[in-house]
Amino acid sequence: MAPSHSRQNPPAPSFAGLFQITAALILSGTLLLGPAQAAGQKAKVPAGLSLSEQHCGRCHIVGQDRFAGISSTPSFKIMIQALDDWQERFDTFMARKPHPAHIRLEGDGPRPDHLPSASVEVVLTLKEIEAILVYVDHMARELGRN
Ligand code: HEC
Repeated sequence: MAPSHSRQNPPAPSFAGLFQITAALILSGTLLLGPAQAAGQKAKVPAGLSLSEQHCGRCHIVGQDRFAGISSTPSFKIMIQALDDWQERFDTFMARKPHPAHIRLEGDGPRPDHLPSASVEVVLTLKEIEAILVYVDHMARELGRN
């Protein structure tokens, strides 16, 4: 996707977006899974993996096996294994550094001017974020971390 070179009044980066995402995910049931829904969610795992490879794999190793990533960036597996609050961090990754400079939610305003424009910007929909989180959740379950 081409970087946006828009120079019109961007909204200040806000954490409101984060709460919208969290609220939407709760409404869609992602964060409140019972066993029955969990089975339905499982169908999203392959899509979540390929979305993760596409959008997160530029920096993170996202699979259980090694593939591309930046060595200074923690892999999904390492984060799930090493961080007891991995779930909360994944639920809020959009607001956590360095992501606001690289990734934004579809429908939010254009990239704010103060952010670096050298790298390719990623725009994700809520559905895509949900699928990525379903994939991460699945991986955590395989690792015995949830
Ligand atoms: C441009 C590179 C880049 C991309 C693309 C990227 N990340 Fe990250 N991410 C990082 C770096 C670097 C860190 C480590 C930040 C730190 O340690 O402060 C990180 C940290 C994280 C963390 C832990 C955050 C924290 O505060 O502990 C999560 C969760 C995460 N990334 C999820 C994702 C997901 C999901 C995607 C894809 C939708 C993604 N990242 C895409 C570079 C990236």
